[in-house]
Amino acid sequence: MRALAVMSLAYALVAMIALGPGGLLAAAPSSIAGALAAKGQKVFRRHCAQCHGNQGGGYIGPAVIGVDAELASYHTAQGLLQYVSTAMPQTAPGSLDERQYLQVVAYLLVQNGYIEKGAALGMDNLAEIPIE
Ligand code: HEC
Repeated sequence: MRALAVMSLAYALVAMIALGPGGLLAAAPSSIAGALAAKGQKVFRRHCAQCHGNQGGGYIGPAVIGVDAELASYHTAQGLLQYVSTAMPQTAPGSLDERQYLQVVAYLLVQNGYIEKGAALGMDNLAEIPIE
């Protein structure tokens, strides 16, 4: 019995070490635009780039980053999130989780200069970030 308890503890420790210092932190919500955007870039590369281009300059789908991107019709970051989270990826709308949508929208906001990297960003202030 005692040996079993020691074994379980050892397994738990190994699991914690395997996660690493970033493992638990990574699960915590971040509200700095630049940090969200860094994760958002990975989401973009994986789920969006095949249609919008690696740099977001457009391919099968329209440009979403840069001079050719026309996002003003979404008015605010909230409008953009609303659209992206219900319509994208076009082949599987709504298939990412809420966090991933926030991250990828943060990436678009930072890349297009709608928000500073160091600014606070979260679900609570998306409506206050204009896109024009
Ligand atoms: C299978 C191809 C495909 C994938 C994958 C895809 N998109 Fe799109 N996306 C499109 C197409 C096509 C349009 C244009 C839709 C329309 O005009 O109705 C579009 C439109 C958009 C728009 C609106 C652009 C505008 O000018 O109004 C945004 C923003 C956008 N996509 C973001 C994303 C994001 C973020 C992802 C990844 C989570 C993604 N898309 C994944 C094909 C795709």
